[in-house]
Formats: sequence, structure tokens, C-alpha cells
Amino acid sequence: MSTNGLQQNLLERIEKELGKLNLPETPISLYQPYRYAINVGGKRIRPILTLLSCGLCGGDIDEAIPAALAVEILHNFTLVHDDIMDSAETRRGEPSVYKKWDSNIAILTGDVMFADAYKQLHYYGESDKFTKQEFAAMHHIFSRSIITVCEGQALDMEFVDRTDVSDKEYLQMIGGKTAALLSGALEMGAVAAHSSHHKRAELADLGYEMGIAFQIQDDLLDATADPEKFGKRPGGDIYEGKKTYLTIRALERANDAQKEIISRTLNEVNPSDDSVKQVLDIMAQLGVLDDVAKETDEHYQKAFNLLNKFESSEYKTELEKLLNFLQNRDH
Ligand code: IPE
Ligand code: IPE
Ligand code: MG
Ligand code: MG
Ligand code: MG
Repeated sequence: MSTNGLQQNLLERIEKELGKLNLPETPISLYQPYRYAINVGGKRIRPILTLLSCGLCGGDIDEAIPAALAVEILHNFTLVHDDIMDSAETRRGEPSVYKKWDSNIAILTGDVMFADAYKQLHYYGESDKFTKQEFAAMHHIFSRSIITVCEGQALDMEFVDRTDVSDKEYLQMIGGKTAALLSGALEMGAVAAHSSHHKRAELADLGYEMGIAFQIQDDLLDATADPEKFGKRPGGDIYEGKKTYLTIRALERANDAQKEIISRTLNEVNPSDDSVKQVLDIMAQLGVLDDVAKETDEHYQKAFNLLNKFESSEYKTELEKLLNFLQNRDH
């Protein structure tokens, strides 16, 4: 990530703290893939959001570190399981965990990561700086986010078998699978800063809009990004028959012949590279890619507007820079 001083410091701090997790060496089939999943890279957006949110609310960033780690470990767990569900062989430019080892190993690795994510939150129960209510709030927000992510992932899979997914349903699905954790990351940072319910809710709303923008853009990058940079299989969503704004918009505008090609390709279990390329060409011809880019920008703009409600501070400036970085990302 190209970042300036403060964000670079926060990023380094997160990497250092992740390095201090003190994972056991054995069983090797559990902890080797865990280390791999955590260390193979990633933008670390969610833990940075937790730390910046804590700073924005006037808190001590050190107090948000356990929450930030919980969120990043949890995110990596979701990716380990998501790649099994999406038959995605590549993640961050390297083989995904289930591909490098096998599905059983990836399932169990995900399980231990899930528990380890929760373990980070013990700190808030043990430290005398946090009230019982704040400890409970951390747990509530985290559990609710995870449950909502699972609901979103379930819809994502259900929609594979449908051709009539509406905008509203798509937004509900990505609001779950992606926005819920970004929202939770920001809200937990506010709890670490001992903030009011009102401020927490404002940050949760900001995270939701960011998350919606982030996932629409992920869907767009899935179809358009340079695979070297994006680190995932180009057109992966089309191969898997995923429903995104790209497919929804394309089906709205396509003529009968184009509709037939799109539907056939999305419904096929193993579509050919040529069919996927044809669908991408149709999307480009129909102006879908440009329009979805505009929709991404509209959601980022909503996030900027929500951020503008906060008082000026160096953390607000950093969050603006992060939003700008995300809006212009290519990976
Ligand atoms: C990938 O998230 C999963 C989505 C919600 C689209 P990121 O793009 O934040 O993944 P990493 O951690 O940077 O690889
Ligand atoms: C990501 O959705 C949601 C979660 C991992 C919870 P995707 O399936 O689009 O994410 P990528 O593209 O594999 O990173
Ligand atoms: Mg996936
Ligand atoms: Mg998925
Ligand atoms: Mg994706």
C-alpha cells in the first residue's frame, strides 16, 4: 500500500503484532497453513481502520491493538474458507490454502483462526481500563459482524442458482459478506476509545458504505484487474456463476442473443475460457464496466460524506487518504 508516515507506522505495528502471535510449531498441518494465510500479504485495511477509528475518537491506539488483530485474523479465516467455497486456486498471487494443502486442512486452519480471533478480545475483559459493558460491546459487535458475514456468504452461494437477483438482494448480500466486517472494524475501534453509542453508530455507518463500495469494486476488479496485481484468477466470479452488479446490469441491457451467452456461461459448471471472455466483451460493449465504476464512486462518496461529519484531526485526514487509496486501488 502506498502510504504516508502515520499509516505506514500503523501498518508496521500491525505486522509486528501479528508476528508476536506466538503460534505453536505443531501440529504442523495446523500452524503452517495458519502462518501462511496470515503472512502471505494482504492490504491490512481492516485493522488499520480499527486503529484509525480509535484515534479519530480520541482514544489510545495501543488499546485498539487486540481488536485490530481480532478483525484481521477473522478476515483471513473468512478468506481461507471462501476460497474453498469459490474454488479459488489463487489468493494474493499465491496458491490458496486449500490448494497448497487440501480442503480438510483449510477447514481446520480456518476453525483455529476463528477461535484465535476471539481470543484477542479477552484483553478487554482482563484490563481494568475497560468496563464490563465495553467488553460485552466488543463481543456483541464482533459476533454480530461474523454472523452477518456468514449470512452474506450464504446468499452469495444461493444466488449462484438464480438468474433474477435484484439490486436490493445483491446489496443485502455484499452488505453481509463484506460491509459487516468493515463496519465492525470501525465500531470496535470506537469502543476501544470508550466512545458513546452515538459515535459508534456513526462509525458503523461509515464502515458499511465503505464496505459496499469496496465489494462492488472487488467485483469490478475481478473482471478487469491485472491478475499479477490483483492476485486472483481473472474473471473468477464468472467462472463460478456469481451474481454481481456486473451480471445484473449486463442481463438488464443485453439483447436475446447476448442474454443467452451470459446465462449459459454463468450456469455452466466449467465454462470455457472463450465463453468467459465473450461475457466480459459483452459487458464492456454494453457499458456495464464504466457504469459499475460510477456506482462504486457513488458509494465511496457517501463514505466521504459520512466522514466529513467528524471534527478535523490527523486521524480524519488519514481516513480520507485511506478512502482515496481504496477508491483508486488496482488490487
Ligand atoms: C478480500 O478482501 C475479500 C473481500 C471482501 C473482497 P481484501 O481485498 O481486503 O483482501 P486482502 O486482505 O487485502 O488480501
Ligand atoms: C469476499 O467475497 C467475502 C468474504 C471473503 C467473506 P469474494 O469471494 O468476492 O472475495 P474474493 O474475491 O475471493 O477475495
Ligand atoms: Mg472468493
Ligand atoms: Mg466468495
Ligand atoms: Mg471477489
